[in-house]
Amino acid sequence: MLVRMLSMSDPDDVRRLYALAYAQKLRVTGRYVFFRGLIEVSNVCARNCLYCGIRAGNGRAARYTMSDEDILAAADTAFRSHFGSIVLQGGERSDAAFVDWIERLVTSIKAKYGTGLGITLSLGEQTPETYDRWKRAGAHRYLIRIESSDPDLFARIHPAGQSYDNRVACIDYLSASGWQTGSGVMIGLPGQTVGNLADDLLFFRDHNLDMIGMGPYIPHPDTPLTQACPDVRPDFHLAIRMVAAARLLLKDVNIAATTALQTLVPDGREQALLAGANVIMPNLGDPQYKRKYSLYEGKPDLNDGLDNCLNSLCSSIRAIGEIPSQDVYGDPVHFATRTAGR
Ligand code: 5AD
Repeated sequence: MLVRMLSMSDPDDVRRLYALAYAQKLRVTGRYVFFRGLIEVSNVCARNCLYCGIRAGNGRAARYTMSDEDILAAADTAFRSHFGSIVLQGGERSDAAFVDWIERLVTSIKAKYGTGLGITLSLGEQTPETYDRWKRAGAHRYLIRIESSDPDLFARIHPAGQSYDNRVACIDYLSASGWQTGSGVMIGLPGQTVGNLADDLLFFRDHNLDMIGMGPYIPHPDTPLTQACPDVRPDFHLAIRMVAAARLLLKDVNIAATTALQTLVPDGREQALLAGANVIMPNLGDPQYKRKYSLYEGKPDLNDGLDNCLNSLCSSIRAIGEIPSQDVYGDPVHFATRTAGR
């Protein structure tokens, strides 16, 4: 069934698929779109993922780390824009200075805004102790993509020594220790089949995930995967069918309309919202940082002023009949359901 949905090409079938997924989304969170202000705190990374533009081995990436002041100013913008939530995302580091820094940032943001601003972290694989410290500091959601749930494909896109099992162990630890836990995959990786993608959806279900973020794989010129497989064409429509299939299978999770979709098609995020996504993550960083946080080629929104972007994003959300939600955490219903009575 999943494979059939993901392979659909008849326009009427595809329209029906999106309509069913959208109806399911309406039953879970209504017409509301939850906002998360995305703050890309640093592109310094200790990892060497073969597809990623900010991999440690890419000497051409200009590195930055935002100052505390700039991060707190971005959090304030999210608060004043009524987003209700922020995401601190960055390259992966696990040295003591980094762990302390994130703990301090989360503590200061929580001290200032309390329940006015929920904090999601997206900072890769860490030890249980680190996750626990960041949670005690006040963060409550964590995003960590599995990238592909197929261990062989995972191994082909990561350097030797990067362990699939450890990634899964991180996801399971987060979920069991009270975090609202999100994961996701890249769609259209070299060698990936529709069967792999169907298994990815079953992985999300079996690991009881609360949030899903998926996007098309977009080659970055300075990476080994692009050098090995230069001719990959991102498949936007397959990515939207994945969103719809995820909504139908997983029902009450939050699903992000991701930036990578917008990179391929200007209204890609709106199309995802109409196919079952219910979360949008506008980038709040200064353009000087955004340009350097280059995971893949052609990231959008690099020049437009932030206020312009937010205004036009809200109008385009209203134009498709959706409502930008304001001043709420926007927690996934799935988390409440799976933890009820624990
Ligand atoms: N294309 C699409 N997504 C990418 N990511 C990293 N590199 C690429 C790429 N070339 C995604 C990964 C990672 C997230 C932060 O960005 O899924 O988890």
